[in-house]
Amino acid sequence: MSSDRNSQPRLELPGTRDVAGGIAPGEALSTVRAEFPALTRRHAGQTYCYLDGPGGTQVPRKTIDAMAGYLERSNANHEGAFATSEESDAILVEAHAAAADFLGASGPDEVAFGQNMTTLTFAVSRAIGRTLRAGDEVVVTRLDHDANVAPWLALEEERGVTVRWVGVREVDCTLDLDDLERALGPRTRLVAVGLASNAVGTINPIPRIVEMAHAAGAWTYVDAVHAAPHMPIDVAALDSDFLVCSPYKFFGPHLGLLYGKRERLEQLAAYKVRPAPSEPPGKWETGTLSGEAIAGLLGTFDYLSWLGREFGGAAESATRRTTLVAAMLAIRATERRLARNALAALSEVPGLSLRGIVDPARLDERVPTFAFTMAGLTPHEIAVELGRRGIAVWDGDYYAYELIRTLGLAESGGMVRVGLVHYNEPAEIERLAEALHEIAGSTAAKSPPRARMEGA
Ligand SMILES: Cc1ncc(COP(=O)(O)O)c(C=O)c1O
Repeated sequence: MSSDRNSQPRLELPGTRDVAGGIAPGEALSTVRAEFPALTRRHAGQTYCYLDGPGGTQVPRKTIDAMAGYLERSNANHEGAFATSEESDAILVEAHAAAADFLGASGPDEVAFGQNMTTLTFAVSRAIGRTLRAGDEVVVTRLDHDANVAPWLALEEERGVTVRWVGVREVDCTLDLDDLERALGPRTRLVAVGLASNAVGTINPIPRIVEMAHAAGAWTYVDAVHAAPHMPIDVAALDSDFLVCSPYKFFGPHLGLLYGKRERLEQLAAYKVRPAPSEPPGKWETGTLSGEAIAGLLGTFDYLSWLGREFGGAAESATRRTTLVAAMLAIRATERRLARNALAALSEVPGLSLRGIVDPARLDERVPTFAFTMAGLTPHEIAVELGRRGIAVWDGDYYAYELIRTLGLAESGGMVRVGLVHYNEPAEIERLAEALHEIAGSTAAKSPPRARMEGA
């Protein structure tokens, strides 16, 4: 499959100057890193090395200040007849507009906030479930995080729905679209799929998948949690009926974000208390939202807008949407360089087996999230060794439950996951590689000497 077909549609950027190669290592990257207070943390005499972005990214000063500012000055519940409540509600209104701009939605009523992606997905899947009958079908994939699988699986028991699976091509951890073709039929009501894998970084060809699903008369529910910190999202171009992401994975506070086409959010009956609004987005925002997290998200968008102007070529006069897209394109360009460095560095580590797309010519098809095993050590032992050195990585299945089982790695502890984002430095990849060489060296007697790039 060509990399063009795997990419998202090209985003038009009226009002921006040429986007260069992203954030250059050195002075430019130091300027960006200075925005993140957490990046100054030290451990065992060195700066702390955050390679755990897929579990949650660090936040810029603007986010922290916005959260603290909210709690200091505007902390109040919704729709009170007094100043702090009015301020809090104004923040909420602005945050919906900014989130709509971030995702390319047509209006603020197409986005709803919630506790996290998982909670929002259970809410929407229950509401969709109400409309399904026994024998209706939903399609899920073996590449997805379980938060976009388990809520749909539950419909089997609750509604008698049949679940169909799309498998993974083990050679490069890409989705098997022939499987999707076979899974779709006249009873398919929904296809649930991820935009990018939180385990191996594969970007799925969502426009094509959405087209296939819609041709079969099914809706689509796209999990963009892992994609959101790495690339611009354009829900209008993707044409998915729903899309979810989590601000805490893209430099914001702990929060979930749901996009739904207006007619979908209107037509479905949400589980809600009677006095709550009957119109979107309010009908999907159950209970009291975290005002401080929503205020913090506005700080994150301010940070990204700064990035879009400084490093993405966005003009001062550009719209917020254009500026945010420019920021995400700059991030994508920056991360390509990081991904190339990481692939080269990991391929040199003795006994290391990297899974997924490993061909540097296919960087368009992945984000810089890498999962591997090493001969002679469990993933947890490697993560502990790296943690002792102040390098934060993840091990296990990180809820990519089906993928780890498909690869036959569940019994042996899954894989080590290294996740890079735009604030990571090339020097951190070198530090990771040095540590892995050291760890491999200490088990050399047991380990085979060469790295294995198991993907394509
Ligand atoms: C791809 C993906 N989907 C869904 C989730 C769940 O997100 P949340 O913690 O917001 O429920 C995660 C979290 O790791 C994820 O990486």
